[in-house]
Amino acid sequence: MRETTNAAKSTDHKGGKDNADRVIIFDTTLRDGEQSPGASMTLPEKLKIAELLDEMGIDIIEAGFPIASNGDFECVHEIAKRAKNSVVCGLARAHFKDIDRAGEALKPARAGRIHTFISTSPVHMKYKLRMEPEAVLEAVTASVERARKYTDDVEWSAEDATRTEHDFLCRCVEAAIKAGAGTINIPDTVGYTVPEEYFNLIKMLHERVPGADKVIFSTHCHNDLGMAVANSLAGVRAGARQVECTVNGIGERAGNAAMEEVVMAINTRNDVLPYWTGIDTTKIMRASKLVSSITAFPVQYNKAIVGKNAFAHESGIHQDGMLKHTQTYEIMRPESIGLTESSLVMGKLSGRAAFGAKLKELGYELDDASFQDAFRRFKDLADKKKHIYDEDIVALVDDHFQDPEQGVKVLSLTVIAGTSGPQKATLTLEIDGRHETREATGSGPVDAVFNAIKAIVPHDARLALYQVSAVTEGTDAQAEVLVRLEEENFTSMGRSADIDTLVASARAYVSALNRLINRRKKAKPEIAAAL
Ligand code: KIV
Ligand code: ZN
Repeated sequence: MRETTNAAKSTDHKGGKDNADRVIIFDTTLRDGEQSPGASMTLPEKLKIAELLDEMGIDIIEAGFPIASNGDFECVHEIAKRAKNSVVCGLARAHFKDIDRAGEALKPARAGRIHTFISTSPVHMKYKLRMEPEAVLEAVTASVERARKYTDDVEWSAEDATRTEHDFLCRCVEAAIKAGAGTINIPDTVGYTVPEEYFNLIKMLHERVPGADKVIFSTHCHNDLGMAVANSLAGVRAGARQVECTVNGIGERAGNAAMEEVVMAINTRNDVLPYWTGIDTTKIMRASKLVSSITAFPVQYNKAIVGKNAFAHESGIHQDGMLKHTQTYEIMRPESIGLTESSLVMGKLSGRAAFGAKLKELGYELDDASFQDAFRRFKDLADKKKHIYDEDIVALVDDHFQDPEQGVKVLSLTVIAGTSGPQKATLTLEIDGRHETREATGSGPVDAVFNAIKAIVPHDARLALYQVSAVTEGTDAQAEVLVRLEEENFTSMGRSADIDTLVASARAYVSALNRLINRRKKAKPEIAAAL
């Protein structure tokens, strides 16, 4: 890894804006976001997300936790090789073996950061670390110094900072700064703080810690009380200049501060939040959809900025106002986040060039093989469905991005349903190249399909969610199916869309099953438990 300057200090003076007001956006979708129950991603999926984050102006991409598994190491290493603009970051506990592994993973980075952390709250030190405060303090210095052997760009985090005694937090932050950390992160690990309190905490650290003016303070707020974004912005008002966040706010438990909310709040309310970021906001919608489809985590309909209803006006009074002037009820333009009018696109006569142009307009860049596959499936869909909308194309392409590492695939399905039961499914799966067919009955056609899958691939996972929604209007709409499976410590999500609800159901179930199998193979429980 080449020596790098701290990203915060290297920000440029853009369009007359003052660098002192620049807020660095540190995206941890691929690390903290992946810690959402069921949100595990494969390497190609993570690369796809990282590529978009890099393109849209994310300053720092936290790509993983290299010591956690070979998969995480490989992911950080590969993103480090590929990122063109963003600093790539690897997480490490305060252990030398973690830090060395992160340093190794980041070697090819144009600009790499090691992010090392240790808990500082009484409850974490006593029960989780079983360490005395003085030993924690020593570990702070030792870990930061070790990380500085690999890069100039070191971030140190006080895990559970918001429940840490102030005097001790000040001592730890001072030690980290003295040892060479350029960024000091103050996580609200358990989503416990409130804006006023978090503001005062960041302000207190600025005022009391020697050397605080030489480093960048960072926020990292979890959303357990629904205040992650408000707390992060309070931190910025108190002087923090880095916000750690995730696309769609995914993350442990209730998630992290949502990147799109932080960025759009700063853009929209610049009168009271006079800061700026380097994010190309027109790519926000694309990032939201990509993360949602890859993780199979649906975005709640009324989610701020990227929810399906965020720009929809249903009531007569609102619609009337909107028709007279958009600013009556709209505080942001939908185009500013890359939301375009849903349009009727193409039919079965549309050719490759038109399809390619549409993909580009929707923000997709596919390699040749993926393009050919998407085009073939578009033609299949156009044979069955008269009107094809942008949403249909998005569902079709996103299906392709779903677990490319499929060990199990749905080859064919026939279902007998109706009033005269029992409902019966005949299913053929391909498992690592081998074909297997089974018949199964069930209480309804969906149950019959899932029973057929279980007959071919026996497993104990429990079906925790089965959800169907229509991608567009009309009785010929594609059905989008979400499936969540739970098994001991693992949860996995699967998503698929098809004109046939039962085919989409089978594919979504199999996708969740593939993820469960992959996750089982990769897991290193002792590391997961340490987080
Ligand atoms: O929430 C947290 O404290 C974290 C740390 C590892 C930064 O994610
Ligand atoms: Zn976190």
